[in-house]
Amino acid sequence: MKLLHIDSSVLGPHSVSRQVSAAIVDRLKQATPSLELVYRDLSQTPLAHLSGSHLAAAQGAPAPAELGPDLAASAAALDEFLAADVVVIGAPMYNFTIPSQLKAWIDRIVVAGKTFSYGANGPQGLAGGKRVILAISRGGYYGAGSPAAALEHLETYLRGVFGFIGINPEFIVADGIQVGPEHREKAIAGALQAATNLRAA
Ligand SMILES: Cc1cc2nc3c(=O)[nH]c(=O)nc-3n(C[C@H](O)[C@H](O)[C@H](O)COP(=O)(O)O)c2cc1C
Repeated sequence: MKLLHIDSSVLGPHSVSRQVSAAIVDRLKQATPSLELVYRDLSQTPLAHLSGSHLAAAQGAPAPAELGPDLAASAAALDEFLAADVVVIGAPMYNFTIPSQLKAWIDRIVVAGKTFSYGANGPQGLAGGKRVILAISRGGYYGAGSPAAALEHLETYLRGVFGFIGINPEFIVADGIQVGPEHREKAIAGALQAATNLRAA
């Protein structure tokens, strides 16, 4: 069984989502020692944004030689995702949504014919059967009815995009990280506790 672990925070050792995603992976590895781990750090090793020439090549147009590394990086990211049984992703909120590094990765794995298709009944997800666990961290609070609720495009986006490819993701949440030290400590402790309570892979 394979677990793909992804981080996207730019805050290195100060990152909350990295701390929580690592705790999730530790918990799953403890429960299933035979888990094979693959790690991808999207901040240290970012994928490029999609380009027109990449899309054209993906649709069969002749690829210029200089596009080779980009096509290879894209194929590697997609293969890694397709091969994983479990995917754990650290996803902080930056400017009300996911970091652009994580969006660049999503652009490489949401691929027609691979993870979704359009049929007579509309779009169909092809990646069902994977377990995706998202460790999200937000500076503020975005609960239903709160003043900032309409600005929440992190959890809603991730739920939507993984749903589109056939996956109903699980979330572990650390909220209010920037509200004050007590809020931060409580949020991190709660998320780490939730990680230890996860069912085994
Ligand atoms: C560039 C940047 C943008 C941020 N934008 C938001 C935001 O729009 N809303 C929010 O609630 N918190 C925001 N925050 C706070 C982060 O969501 C919070 O610190 C969270 O813990 C970040 O996760 P990380 O520690 O794993 O990087 C922002 C932080 C940074 C560094």
